[in-house]
Amino acid sequence: MKLFDVYPLFDITPVKAKGCYVWDAEGKKYLDLYGGHAVISIGHSHPHYVEKIKNQLSDIGFYSNSIQNPLQHELAEKLGRLSGCHDYQLFLCNSGAEANENAIKLASFVTGRKKFISFTKGFHGRTSAAVALTDNPKIVAPVNQTENAVILPFGDLGAVENVLKNGDVAAVIIEGIQGIGGINIPEKAFLESLAELTKKHGSLLILDEIQSGYGRSGKFFAFQYTHVEPDVITMAKGMGNGFPVGGILIRPGIEPWHGMLGTTFGGNHLACAASIAVLDVIEKEKLVENAFQVGKYMSEKLAEFSSDYEVRGLGLMIGIELKFPVKELRHKLLFEHLIFTGFSGQNIVRLLPPLTLNFEQADAFIAAFKQVFSELSAGKS
Ligand SMILES: Cc1ncc(COP(=O)(O)O)c(C=O)c1O
Repeated sequence: MKLFDVYPLFDITPVKAKGCYVWDAEGKKYLDLYGGHAVISIGHSHPHYVEKIKNQLSDIGFYSNSIQNPLQHELAEKLGRLSGCHDYQLFLCNSGAEANENAIKLASFVTGRKKFISFTKGFHGRTSAAVALTDNPKIVAPVNQTENAVILPFGDLGAVENVLKNGDVAAVIIEGIQGIGGINIPEKAFLESLAELTKKHGSLLILDEIQSGYGRSGKFFAFQYTHVEPDVITMAKGMGNGFPVGGILIRPGIEPWHGMLGTTFGGNHLACAASIAVLDVIEKEKLVENAFQVGKYMSEKLAEFSSDYEVRGLGLMIGIELKFPVKELRHKLLFEHLIFTGFSGQNIVRLLPPLTLNFEQADAFIAAFKQVFSELSAGKS
C-alpha cells in the first residue's frame, strides 16, 4: 500500500533522539532547533518521561472515560499549579485542532451564538471549525467554508468591535503568538482590549496556546505577558512531548453538563502519564525560566549580528525574517551543519527547539547561522 503523499519530505530518517539531538539511520547527529514542530518540550526521550510511560503501560494503558481516572486529577492539579490557572477547569483531548474544535463548540453552547472572529495569518488547525478560522484558503475545503467564520486584520480593534457589536459573536480566537503565520506577537494593548470588548459584548475570548504555550514563550502561556484572563485556553504540542495530547482550560463560572464535550481517547492513562512526566520535568528543571533566558540570549545575539534581517519572538519561539527566501539557508543548515530549523512562508526561519536548549547549543546554532547567512548574502550582493 502507498502512503497518501501530502508531505514534502527531507531525505533523512531519524532513528534515535536524546535531549536536543537527533540521529539518523547513518549515525549522523543533528541539533534540533525545530523540536519536531514545537512538540518536544522537555527534550527527546527524557529518562523520567520514558520511565513514567513504560511503567504506566505495564499497569494500565487505556480505559474509557466512563471510569475513575485519578491520573486526570493529578494532571489537572499539577497543570493548575505550574500554569497559574489553578481555578480553571480541564478538558482533555488528543490534538491541537481537536482542542480548538472543542473550545469553539463550548463557546457556541455557552453563548447560544454561531459566529467566530479570528485574524489574518492565524492558524488554528485543519478540522472543520478550526480550519474555517484559519487564514489559508488552500486548506479550507468547500465543506469547511462558512459565513460564521470572520477573519479580520491582525491588530485591528475597530474591525473587531464593528463585528462584535452585532451581538452574534460566540468568541474571538487568537494565538498567544502567531506561529505558522511568522512569529507575530499580538500587542499587549490589543490583547487586553480584546478581552474587554469580548466581555462587553457577551462573547468569549479563546487563547490558542497550542504552539506558544507550555513554557515556550518564557512564561507558561504567552498571554501571561499581559493582564488578560481568557475564557478558554487551548493547548497541545509541548503538553505530551510527542505523545498526542491536547486540552482546553475553561474559566470558572462556565458550567459543564454531561455529554457537552467528549472523546474516546482523550485523557487516557498513557496520555496522562506522559503529560504528568512533562510537567514534572518542566518544574524540576525550571524549563520555563530556561526558555526565557536562552531564548533572550539567542534573540539578542542574532539581532546584533546584522540589521539585514528582523528577529521576532519570545523565549524559544523565534522567527528570523530575511530579505530573501530561506529555503537554501535551511538546506545548508541541515545538510552542511546538521541543524534542523523550521520556516514560515518564504522568508522566515522559525526556531522551536526543546525548552532544554542550553547556551552552548544556542551558540552552536548562532555560529552556523551567521556563517550560512554571510555566505548567502555575499552570493547575493
Ligand atoms: C497555533 C496552532 N493551533 C492549532 C494547531 C493544530 O494543532 P494539531 O496539528 O495538533 O491539530 C497548530 C499546529 O501547528 C498551531 O500551531
